[in-house]
Amino acid sequence: MQKLTFPENFTWGVAASAYQIEGAWNEDGRGPSIWDTYCHTPGKIANGETGDVAIDHYHRYKEDVALMAELGIQAYRFSISWSRVIPEGAGTVNQKGLDFYDRLVDELLKRKIEPYTCLYHFDLPQALHDRGGWPERQTASAFADYARVVTERLSDRVHTIITHNEPWVTAAAGYFDGSHAPGIKDPAATFKAMHHLLLSHGLAAEAIRAAAKKPVKVGIVLNLNPVHPASDSRKDRDAAYRMDTVLNRAMLDPLLKGTTPMQEFAVGKMLTASLIKPGDLEKIRTLDLLGVNYYTRTVVKNDPKFPVAAASQVQPKGNEYSGMWEIYPEGLYELLMRVWKDYFTGPNPTFPPSLPGKGGAGGISPELMVTENGVPVPDGVDFDGRVRDERRVRYLKNHIAQVHRAIADGVPVKGYFHWSLMDNFEWALGYGQHFGLIYVDYKTQKRTVKDSGRWFADVIRENGFEL
Ligand code: FCB
Repeated sequence: MQKLTFPENFTWGVAASAYQIEGAWNEDGRGPSIWDTYCHTPGKIANGETGDVAIDHYHRYKEDVALMAELGIQAYRFSISWSRVIPEGAGTVNQKGLDFYDRLVDELLKRKIEPYTCLYHFDLPQALHDRGGWPERQTASAFADYARVVTERLSDRVHTIITHNEPWVTAAAGYFDGSHAPGIKDPAATFKAMHHLLLSHGLAAEAIRAAAKKPVKVGIVLNLNPVHPASDSRKDRDAAYRMDTVLNRAMLDPLLKGTTPMQEFAVGKMLTASLIKPGDLEKIRTLDLLGVNYYTRTVVKNDPKFPVAAASQVQPKGNEYSGMWEIYPEGLYELLMRVWKDYFTGPNPTFPPSLPGKGGAGGISPELMVTENGVPVPDGVDFDGRVRDERRVRYLKNHIAQVHRAIADGVPVKGYFHWSLMDNFEWALGYGQHFGLIYVDYKTQKRTVKDSGRWFADVIRENGFEL
């Protein structure tokens, strides 16, 4: 047995997102988002499920915050539904929508839980999609206006505002493979969406800082995966390089270096040439907090059939799998080390020295946190009322140990947020995948803390655990 202790002031949190938990899809003036439309389209979601009711957090938020407090949770990353606040995406503000987040923030603070507010977690107002959505540059400006509205209302109490959750997924799942709303399959639209999402981060950061009543940290949360070649062949290694570029560097380079790697690809060059306007990259590179979401690694082989990266994913054998992915804890360590070495420090000056700013990293030295990590495994309430989700406990031990290892090797990771507090609506997969520390009976909405939730509470209390 080895006792792993975390640094003082390490933040232990949980994460969730509006559409996955709130429900109340058409209450108190909320406008429709692309996820309402997508879920209401037959055949898109497993078992025809929707987020119409979800886990009714909109009405039960007090109970949910009380549960967080019971577990000793120190921080809560939640997202705001844009169309609840601005039903048409731009223009009239719905005060009732803002009031909900106002009450939520007050409730969190009453329980001494730090709010981490995220402005966008996949749910574009439908009205903006009807005007072209993320492939249109004007959506980035609309996002900055929305960021200002939220900042004006909440920044007296909220100290961290995250612009986007996983902009890569927004672009790739929404516009490339169409597995998420709005369900489009168009490489050109994907590149446009990707750039405008990044641009919207920069524009929103400016708007947030200008409107903030007190100093706020502006963050972004990225899904990042270590990419490994399926074999040692030159072709597969090249494929892994290309996939890493498209998957990880596509976001990291603009945000942290002020450059884009898209020009490395013929297709990327063609599609981004007129897209990136002078000054855009400077605007994008602004960040106080980088959140890393980690679930699994990506293993690829060379595959010219696949557009852009010419690489396709393979399922490696030998490791345990969850309901969605291979379980690969070492990947979290690898990722944190890589981000730290390639983007924050390292022998190679990763930032052009001409860019202004402080610190060895060429100007910006954001904090680093793990903002999502968790596992979908089947679980249920046993006859005695307990949920014995040992597999989740094991997953968490093994992954949090990798965070500890990265810290011991010099990466100043400031916090760890578990995905998710409660079981919830897992996008196109519906309610079949359970990620929560708290089990939710979807018929009665009864919440039951799982064994993993009790274990996580102990970790928080001890600021560490026995491995
Ligand atoms: C992430 C999403 C989150 C959830 C988890 C499982 O990509 O940010 O909403 O779906 O995966």
